[in-house]
Amino acid sequence: MDLTVRRARPGDRQRVLDICRKTWNGWDYVPLFFDRWVNEPGFWMGEYRGKVVGFGKATRLSGEEWWLEGLRVDPKYRSRGFGTRLSFRILRETLGARPAFLRLATADVNSESIRIIERMGFRPHFSTSYYVCESVSNEPGPTRGLSRPDARRAHEFLGRSEELAVSRGLMSWTWVFCNATRDHVRELCRMGAVYGYGRKRLQGLLIVRPHRYFPGDLYISHISGTRPALRAFRGLVLRTAAERGSESIRGAASSPAMKSAFAELGMELHPRIGRVLVYDFPI
Ligand SMILES: CC(C)(COP(=O)(O)OP(=O)(O)OC[C@H]1O[C@@H](n2cnc3c(N)ncnc32)[C@H](O)[C@@H]1OP(=O)(O)O)[C@@H](O)C(=O)NCCC(=O)NCCS
Repeated sequence: MDLTVRRARPGDRQRVLDICRKTWNGWDYVPLFFDRWVNEPGFWMGEYRGKVVGFGKATRLSGEEWWLEGLRVDPKYRSRGFGTRLSFRILRETLGARPAFLRLATADVNSESIRIIERMGFRPHFSTSYYVCESVSNEPGPTRGLSRPDARRAHEFLGRSEELAVSRGLMSWTWVFCNATRDHVRELCRMGAVYGYGRKRLQGLLIVRPHRYFPGDLYISHISGTRPALRAFRGLVLRTAAERGSESIRGAASSPAMKSAFAELGMELHPRIGRVLVYDFPI
């Protein structure tokens, strides 16, 4: 069956929304990004007999680092090879941009997606777990000792963390995992997302920002440190959540250290998402 692949256009919006409504019981995040993606390179539509039956996105995270996301096929047209063909075409187009890193993530229960990913030649990079706290406590604790480290110190601390060793240098923001480079940390510092503990010698690091899909809620990209550091971070996170009226705090953790820091914040394994598999394309 012939699938034509072309760049997305603003006029695709309604059809994209229709497909998203039929995906994951209407919980798809793609509608939040349509307006941005349609103005970026890498948003591809698959057409069969003149009708959009699926789409996918290759996003440039920074410099030569690319991320594949948002692959969807209308349930009515699934299991006919469209998802595979669309993915191969997006892969070919993205490789044409000469990425140094090309990655993606999927849930371990998504066997259709895993079939396609492995067939394309992606290799498992690491796996992680999503945590969530949906009843945010209203009792912020003490926040003494917090500091605002500069990017160099924050990046050095992060580089020594158990979490980054397990995640092979990647840090998450909702379903996107990117290289925790000095430039990335500098950008996070500029956004006000980075906190330290201890002024002379850094004893802990917290990176917290608005959730990518629910901007009123909080997403923790990194938390690690000594017990007093974790106590102060807890106070800060709860206070920030209360001030913003956040309904949830979320994050992904791969190492025992970050998992136990999440547990201290009252976060638990996400009830529906199992392991999240992050893949890397051998460049
Ligand atoms: C993932 C998705 C894009 C695949 O689209 P598709 O057009 O059905 O894909 P294909 O027809 O190319 O099938 C891909 C493989 O999955 C297999 N597959 C299809 N449906 C399956 C199912 N329900 N369970 C297990 N395997 C399945 C196919 O047999 C095929 O493998 P094969 O070629 O070895 O037989 C589509 O299922 C989808 O939109 N899912 C919801 C969104 C999603 O999960 N996106 C990926 C998130 S990262």
